[in-house]
Amino acid sequence: MARLAPSVLGADFSRLGEEIRKSDKAGIDMFHLDIMDGHFVPNISFGPGVVKTIDKLSDTFLDVHLMLSEPEKYFEAFIRAGADGITFHYEARPEPLPLVNQIRNFGCQVGLSINPDTDVEKVLPFLEEVDLLLIMSVYPGFGGQKFIPSALNAVHIAREFIESHHLKTAIQVDGGVDAGNAESVVRAGADILVMGTAFFGCADKTTLTRNISAL
Ligand code: DX5
Ligand code: ZN
Repeated sequence: MARLAPSVLGADFSRLGEEIRKSDKAGIDMFHLDIMDGHFVPNISFGPGVVKTIDKLSDTFLDVHLMLSEPEKYFEAFIRAGADGITFHYEARPEPLPLVNQIRNFGCQVGLSINPDTDVEKVLPFLEEVDLLLIMSVYPGFGGQKFIPSALNAVHIAREFIESHHLKTAIQVDGGVDAGNAESVVRAGADILVMGTAFFGCADKTTLTRNISAL
């Protein structure tokens, strides 16, 4: 059963409260919160203050995606703001285990993310230590980009490794995911689908959410 993680970056921030309430009513599984520093990615999004605002509006799991060059400097502020899961990029911390343990010590779930041009083989040795592998299907920094189909090869390789090693690590795919490609993303082996534009641009969020959970 696939899970849906709307990326709040795709929401109408002039009506954020309403967007959060409508998403919860649709029955989503978690909110995906994209944190960008203008250095690791060529964009700046929002900080712990917005995470805290959303945490006050909803009890839904907050899945925070750190697109930061120095995730070790900022992860704690996001946990204190209400993050339930923290994902950081392998490209920022190619020796991820110390930071994985630091995040774990706060009782927070931890994920590791790779960009489309990073070989998934590089992160397989760490999968046993993390709750989530986030495979980017766009180059991170902006919502509304086109899905990169070759990301599905990485999903397939990671799925094979997880099954053959009897791991519980979830696979999340993020970037350009929509109702049209969702089935192929799940068939490749993904558990969690991040949707920004496709979700917040959708009039019938309940049906979309139901269709994803039926995959
Ligand atoms: C991109 C972000 C994604 C993005 C998803 O840097 O990590 O989460 O907001 O938005 P869509 O679904 O519009 O590609
Ligand atoms: Zn993201």
